Amino acid sequence: MLVLGIESSCDETGAAVVRADGAVLSDIVHSQVRLHAAFGGVVPELASRDHAKNVVPVVREALAVAGVELGSIDAVAVTHRPGLVGALLVGVQVAKGLAWAADKPLVGVDHLMGHLLAIFLRRGDAPAPMPQFPFVALLASGGHTAIYRVDEAHADSVRELGATRDDAAGEAFDKTAKMLGLGYPGGPVVDRLARLGDPNAFKLLAPMAHGSTLEMSFSGIKTQVAELVRTRGPFSEAQIADICASFQRAVTSVLAKKLVMAAVSEGVAHVVIGGGVAANSELRARVSALAESHGITAHAPSLASCTDNAAMIAYAGACRFARGERDGWDLLATSQSVLVKSTRKGRGRR
Ligand code: KG4
Ligand code: ZN
Repeated sequence: MLVLGIESSCDETGAAVVRADGAVLSDIVHSQVRLHAAFGGVVPELASRDHAKNVVPVVREALAVAGVELGSIDAVAVTHRPGLVGALLVGVQVAKGLAWAADKPLVGVDHLMGHLLAIFLRRGDAPAPMPQFPFVALLASGGHTAIYRVDEAHADSVRELGATRDDAAGEAFDKTAKMLGLGYPGGPVVDRLARLGDPNAFKLLAPMAHGSTLEMSFSGIKTQVAELVRTRGPFSEAQIADICASFQRAVTSVLAKKLVMAAVSEGVAHVVIGGGVAANSELRARVSALAESHGITAHAPSLASCTDNAAMIAYAGACRFARGERDGWDLLATSQSVLVKSTRKGRGRR
């Protein structure tokens, strides 16, 4: 079974052809990073227009690289939630047009399910060990940060165990980089500079790092960086590397600790990470080491499977399709995920 996946929820236009067993035949991503860089973040209106411009060439390239015709595809899967609605609508309408024209089933996919199942994608020949259900997963991206128990590859079998009460971890990376004058997106550059810095040079703390709660908070550490910049800047290159290292250590240690804590309390033997922040080298190393010390097997997707891509959407669509699920021509784009939230936003007494 072959699924064509289309992704346009934020600032990446993606199309991919994936087999039901997770083999990636093609995965094309057109990034809008340069378009939004001047604004220090994603501008929704510009994102929608750029998706409209690029989505058809990206789909054509995905089919060409996979060496398949639209007629040989078994289903068209598309991200329809959560995300920027104007951006989602572009992918949804193109998916409907293609599915209708080629007389193929249409399958709507929740972007977060795509990230959670991205670990099952197989790129190239490398046979990687698969996680076994049930597992506990950390999804950390620019818009979401949460820990889930995943019993099966289906949204009804995913339960949120704890999430951020405010900002996503990726948002903290992006804002920290912006305050340090490092550009957008911040994650990759902070990751690179952190390797050159001293993580003990500055005292930065991720709030809610202690205690047994699986809830998290990343807005406070942004304020700490802002205060540093205000009171002690401007900084030398070496000091910027030190701030990156101190910031990254604080954020990755709390993410790794809560993920493994969740796995221990759920009694599962496998943990998985996903989302753009799962590309972070220190997070990958910490999760792997901490899980191993608890007798738990850690799984991290390849870097291309962490950041936004359409292969994960095609695979999550294939899982829905295999269960006989599909959507009608009235499929809507919506900003909310299908996954039920258990963590309340904001501060104050619980
Ligand atoms: O999953 P993703 O591509 O898009 C969303 O669904 O949000 O995640 C993007 C986020 C951005 O905040 C970016 O700075 C962060 O992932 N990111 C990283 C790294 N690569 C991307 N954060 C930390 N370290 C990285 N190496
Ligand atoms: Zn994403």
